[in-house]
Amino acid sequence: MSDNPADRESASQAQMQRFVADLKEARAREKQQAAATQAAYAQLSAYARDVKTAWRKERQRAEQLERAYLNTLQVLLRASAYKDEETGAHIARIRHYSKTLCLAAGLGEDLATLVYDASPMHDVGKIGVPDVVLKKPGSLDPDEWKIMRRHPAIGASLLNGTGSALLEAAREIALTHHERWDGSGYPNGLVGEAIPLLGRVVNLVDQYDALRSPRVYKPAFTHERTCEIMLKGDGRSMPAHFDPNLLAAFGDTHLQLAAVYERFCEGAPDALGD
Ligand SMILES: [Fe+2]
Ligand SMILES: [Fe+2]
Repeated sequence: MSDNPADRESASQAQMQRFVADLKEARAREKQQAAATQAAYAQLSAYARDVKTAWRKERQRAEQLERAYLNTLQVLLRASAYKDEETGAHIARIRHYSKTLCLAAGLGEDLATLVYDASPMHDVGKIGVPDVVLKKPGSLDPDEWKIMRRHPAIGASLLNGTGSALLEAAREIALTHHERWDGSGYPNGLVGEAIPLLGRVVNLVDQYDALRSPRVYKPAFTHERTCEIMLKGDGRSMPAHFDPNLLAAFGDTHLQLAAVYERFCEGAPDALGD
């Protein structure tokens, strides 16, 4: 470097100018980056808003659709009521028993609500069973039983192929509510967990209700006698028919089921359903 003070001064000025120029350049770059970040953020926020709006609309549409399906179920149920001897009181009891049992078994509020809405359709397939069999005053002969045992498959075919969670649950229940845990049920002789859970729930409560109700071959049993049969068996109904977890939940919650029966039994003020 030159010893001349004027040269040194001019070199240091040039260095300073470069430093200032670099600094300006760095600031300009930073500004550009900040602007780009802000633009990207604004774009992202707009996108998030669009997604949220679309999601809200989609949810509204899905809710409307589920409500429409629920109405469809109610229409189908009213149509089947003209045909089936099963009363509105039985339907009301089944949906309340099912919900109670689901909650007692710790299956959660969502599943309990689903079974509450879907279980009334369990016997809708009886719409396809001839009156001579369905309304026969005496016991059915083996051929008539064969016809009667078609009602789960008929019900499932009525509820088939809609893509709705509610109707799919109703279809599953209609098809499997006569399957038994030990494989002795119908129509497919499914065993254990191969039987859909909601089918197992409705099977158990339908049996409780059948025991509480009079049939051509038996009187209506008291709640105590019904519990004894459900939990210990009587040769015809056996504990092995039921999902053991659900049977244990039944043992815990049987008094609530008895209360449902009393509330919706024939002749009670709530017997027309709720
Ligand atoms: Fe049935
Ligand atoms: Fe039933």
